[in-house]
Amino acid sequence: MNHLASDDLLDAGPPGAVPAGREPARNAALHGTRACAEPTPGPEAPPGPEAARSRQAARRPEGDRWTAGSGKQNRSDARRGMVMTVTRAMRQALLAEMRRHTGVGDAIAEAFLTVPRHVFLPETPVEQVYRDEVIVTKRGADGMPTSSSSQPTIMAAMLGQLAVRPGDRVLEIGAGTGFNAALLATLTGSGGEVVSVDIDPDLVDAARSNLEDAGCSGVTVVAGDGTDGFAAGAPYDRIIATVGAWDLAPAWLEQLAPGGRIVVPLDLYGVQRSVALERAPRQTSGRWGSVSVLSCGFMRMRGPLAGPERYEVLDPATGLTIFLPDGRDAHGVLSALEGRVTARAVATGLPVDPTVLFDGFSLWLAVHEPRWCTLWEAGGTRLPPSPLTMQGTSVSAGIRDGGGIALLTTEKTGRDAGWGVGYPSQVEEVVARGYGPDGMRLADELAAHARTWLAAGRPMTDTLHIDAYPATMSVSTAPTTPLLEKRHTTLAITWPAC
Ligand SMILES: C[S@@+](CC[C@H](N)C(=O)[O-])C[C@H]1O[C@@H](n2cnc3c(N)ncnc32)[C@H](O)[C@@H]1O
Repeated sequence: MNHLASDDLLDAGPPGAVPAGREPARNAALHGTRACAEPTPGPEAPPGPEAARSRQAARRPEGDRWTAGSGKQNRSDARRGMVMTVTRAMRQALLAEMRRHTGVGDAIAEAFLTVPRHVFLPETPVEQVYRDEVIVTKRGADGMPTSSSSQPTIMAAMLGQLAVRPGDRVLEIGAGTGFNAALLATLTGSGGEVVSVDIDPDLVDAARSNLEDAGCSGVTVVAGDGTDGFAAGAPYDRIIATVGAWDLAPAWLEQLAPGGRIVVPLDLYGVQRSVALERAPRQTSGRWGSVSVLSCGFMRMRGPLAGPERYEVLDPATGLTIFLPDGRDAHGVLSALEGRVTARAVATGLPVDPTVLFDGFSLWLAVHEPRWCTLWEAGGTRLPPSPLTMQGTSVSAGIRDGGGIALLTTEKTGRDAGWGVGYPSQVEEVVARGYGPDGMRLADELAAHARTWLAAGRPMTDTLHIDAYPATMSVSTAPTTPLLEKRHTTLAITWPAC
C-alpha cells in the first residue's frame, strides 16, 4: 500500500497560476536568479546518433513555442512535419493539475513554470511529459524500474518540505534525469550551488547533457553511491534524497551544515514516508527530529542503504504478489490462501476508505506489527474483495505468521444500512479474514490492531513524528513507543497529538 504519491498540502501558496504574461525566465533574470533558461534557438543538428538528434528535436524552437517530442515515434512524426509544440501553457496546465493535489508555493511554482521538463525527458512524447505522472526512464534486467522522473506533485511537495532558500548549497541523492536538480538550481538562484549524485554513470552523463540543453548552470552531477554523500562539496544547507532509503546515511548527517535540513523518503518497516528532519535543538544530543512527514512511494536505493524487504510473485497467472518488509520468504502463503478460509469474519470497525487505510492504518500496522505484509493482484481472483483498488489492482494488508495469513477484506455484512426501500440494505465493512493454519488467531490479532488504531484517534501520516537516534546512542522513550532499529539509526515513532 505504499505506492501512492502524497496528497498532503505543504508549502501552500495562494491558489491559481502565475499571472498571465509573466515570463518566469525573464522575471528570474530580473531578480538575479540563476534559472534554467528556456533552450536557446539552434540550428538543425547534422545527422548523428539517435540520442543527439532526439535531444536536438527537444530544443528546437518555433517562435515562442518549443518543438519537442522525441522517441522513435515522435522522431518519425517530426520528419513528417508533425512536430508537437511545447508551450508555457502546458506547464501552466500541469501546475494547475498539481495544485489540485498539493499546495505549491510561489517559488516552487515559478520553478516548475521555468524548467522545461521535456528537455529532461527527450525520449518521451511531450503530451505525456506534461501530465502529472511519474515517467520511468530506465529498467533493470528484471524489468523493474531503476530510474524515473518522479511525479511532479510529489516533487513539489518534497521541495516544499525542503524549504530551499536563495543562496543555499544543496545536495541531491538520485540525479536521474537532472530535472529535480534543475528545479533546485532555480530555487537556490545564482548565489547557490547544487550537487546531484547518481549511482549510474550513464544516467549521470544524460543528466549533465539535459542540464546543458536546458541552459541550466550551477549544478554539478557526480557519479557515485549517494550513501557517501559528496564530502568535497560539504557542508550543505539542504540535502534531499529522491530515492527511497532504508536508513539515514551517517555521511548525510555529517555533511549537513548546522541549522540544515534533510528530506528523505524513509522506510518505516515497509511503508515509505518523505521525512524532513532537523537536528534536535541541543546539538550534543545527536538526535534528529522530523519537522514534517508526507506519504510517498519511491524506488529503493541500490547499495548499502537498500533494505531487506522482499517482493515475491506468488502466482504469475494473476500477478498475485506479496511484499514482506523483513525479507522473509513467503513459504506457505499461497497454499494458505487456497485452503479453507476461517468460518468467521472478524469485524474491525475500519472505514471503507482507501486513503484512511493507506495513510493511517497501514502505517500504524507497519510500525506496530513486525509480521505485517501487503498483497496485491492485478485483475486476478485469488485475493478476497480488497479495501483498496488502484487502476485495476487490488491491494490488501495483513499479518502473516507460520503457514497462515490474515487479510483485510471488504464484505457486505448482515447489518442494515438503514437507507430505506430501494437502497442497498447491507453495509459494506472492512473485516479481517484468516487463511490456513492459525488463520483465526491472526484475524483476531489484525482486528485488535484496528481497534487500537481507532481508539488512538485514527492517527495519520500528517501528525506522525519521527526521532532518529544514532544507533550507538541509548534511546529512552515511553515503553509503548515503536522503535525501528536500523543499521545506523534507531527511529522512534510517535503521534504526539494522540
Ligand atoms: C526516482 S529517480 C530520481 C529522479 C531525479 N531526481 C529526477 O529528477 O529525474 C532515483 C534515482 O536514484 C538513483 N540511485 C539509486 N540508488 C542510488 C545510490 N545508492 N546512490 C545514488 N543514486 C542512486 C537511481 O539511479 C535513479 O536515477
